[in-house]
Amino acid sequence: MSHILVLNGSARPNAFTAAMIRSFCKGAGSVGHSVTVIDLCKLNIHSCIGCLNGGKDKEHPCVQRDDMDAVYAEFRRADVTVFATPLFFWSYSGLLKNAIDRLWALAEFERSELIGRGRGGALLVAAGGSHPEPLYEHFDYMMKRLAWKNLGKAALLHTDDMQAIPECEDAYMLGASIGKREEP
Ligand SMILES: Cc1cc2nc3c(=O)[nH]c(=O)nc-3n(C[C@H](O)[C@H](O)[C@H](O)COP(=O)(O)O)c2cc1C
Repeated sequence: MSHILVLNGSARPNAFTAAMIRSFCKGAGSVGHSVTVIDLCKLNIHSCIGCLNGGKDKEHPCVQRDDMDAVYAEFRRADVTVFATPLFFWSYSGLLKNAIDRLWALAEFERSELIGRGRGGALLVAAGGSHPEPLYEHFDYMMKRLAWKNLGKAALLHTDDMQAIPECEDAYMLGASIGKREEP
């Protein structure tokens, strides 16, 4: 069984990304995986300053000292990382992109802390409209360059009615499929 880390890039606790994460967790739990969800909006995570000078200290891979250290600890424990995000400008939310950028410090410490090593990744996206494709393209490329298994994606589209937040069957199925199939 895998340990799964979900990085939640939504700032709305009762909206669509959160609903997708709940469905995903149910699916993953149904086949015995353990899941940790990190709500990035509750953490103090600064933007990457681009110094390319991290990796000197295993406990604090980044030169900045903030709540990213908690994310590094969970990331190191995880076999699979799920990027869960609202679609903002056809891309990740700033909250999530910030955390992704800061993961680079792990590779500065040791390349295999970020790249390869049998890791898997998946994407959950909630979108007001119907075009998550640019984000899909980025995610697929990121999986390729990080040499992670691309475990798939789920989307909830047309998220305009906050009074009618649905269960997300695709997210459930994605959670339940972890460990069962691998996309090329
Ligand atoms: C700053 C901002 C940018 C957005 N950009 C897009 C977009 O490019 N495409 C789209 O379909 N929806 C866009 N939306 C709508 C969100 O994707 C939608 O409200 C989504 O449900 C938010 O996730 P949440 O329900 O977890 O908060 C945007 C919303 C905001 C606030």
